[in-house]
Amino acid sequence: MQLKQAIDSANKLFLQNDVPSPRLNAELLMMFVLDRDRAHLYAHPERELTHDEESRYAEVTTERTRGCPTQYITGHQEFWGLDLIVSPAVLIPRPETEHAVETVLEVVKEYYREHPRKIRIVDVGTGSGCIALALASELTQAEIHACDISEEALEVARINSIRLGLGERVGFRKSDLLAAYAGETFDFVVSNPPYVGESEADKVQRQVKEFEPKVAVFSGHEGMDIYRRLIPQASAALRPSGWFVTEIGFSAEEKVKQLLDGWSDVRTTADLQGIPRVIAARKNLVSG
Ligand SMILES: C[S@@+](CC[C@H](N)C(=O)[O-])C[C@H]1O[C@@H](n2cnc3c(N)ncnc32)[C@H](O)[C@@H]1O
Repeated sequence: MQLKQAIDSANKLFLQNDVPSPRLNAELLMMFVLDRDRAHLYAHPERELTHDEESRYAEVTTERTRGCPTQYITGHQEFWGLDLIVSPAVLIPRPETEHAVETVLEVVKEYYREHPRKIRIVDVGTGSGCIALALASELTQAEIHACDISEEALEVARINSIRLGLGERVGFRKSDLLAAYAGETFDFVVSNPPYVGESEADKVQRQVKEFEPKVAVFSGHEGMDIYRRLIPQASAALRPSGWFVTEIGFSAEEKVKQLLDGWSDVRTTADLQGIPRVIAARKNLVSG
C-alpha cells in the first residue's frame, strides 16, 4: 500500500469512529511508524510501505480507534517547546497548562524586584514534570522542586528532566501534596491538581476516563478536595508575600476564590477560549 492511501484510509476509519482531528492523528501515527517528519509524508505520498510498516500502522491505528490517545502510542507530547516523554502513568500535558507557567513568569519579575534572592518554587502534582521543567528552562537562577503522589509519574518526570539536560535543576520527591516538605518554605507554590468531580465523570471524554490516570484527573465528589487541602498547606509553606498559582477546572473560579479568602492580589487568567484557567494569589503579609 502507498503511504498516502494508508493515511487516507486511517483518516476515514477515524472519522467513522469519532476520533478527534482524524487527519492530524493519521499523519502523526504515520510519522511515528516511519520515524520521519511531516515533510516526508508530503514529499513521498507514493512511497510503498513495507509489510512491517503497514502492519505496524494497522496496529497503532486500531489502538487509536479503541480510544488510546496518540501521545500514549507515540510516547511524546510537546509542552512549552519541550519534547516530553509521556506514558499512561502521567496525564498528557495540555496546552492550557502553559498559562500556569506564563502566570508564574509574569509575577516572578515583580517578585524578584522585591526579593532579589534565589527563589524556591515547588510544583505540586508534577506528572510528566511539564510545569517544573518549563520553569526550570526559563528561570535559570531559581531552585525548583516537584512532587507527586505517584512513584510511576515521578519516574517519567525524572527521565524527562535528564533528557532535557535539566536533571540537576529540579529536585523530585514523592509526597502527598506538601507533606514531604515539612518545615521548608517556598516563594512559589504552583500546581495543576486533579480537579474533576467524580459526580461529573460522565461528562469527561472517553479517552481521558479510560486511559489517563484517575489520580491525575479526579478529586472527590465535586472536584474540590485537593484544592481544600492544598490551599492551607500552600499558605503555611509560602514565605510572606509568596505566590500560589493553580490551574482551575471549568466553572471552578468562584469556588476556588472562596478558599482564597484572606489572600491578596487574587487574579484569574483566561485561556484562549476565554475560560478562566489559572488563579494566582499572594499570601497575605498580615496573616502570614
Ligand atoms: C492534573 S495532573 C497534572 C500533571 C502535570 N502537572 C500536568 O500539568 O500535566 C495532577 C497530578 O497530581 C498528582 N496527584 C494527585 N493527588 C496528589 C496528592 N495528594 N499529592 C501529590 N500529587 C498528587 C497526580 O498523580 C497527577 O500527576
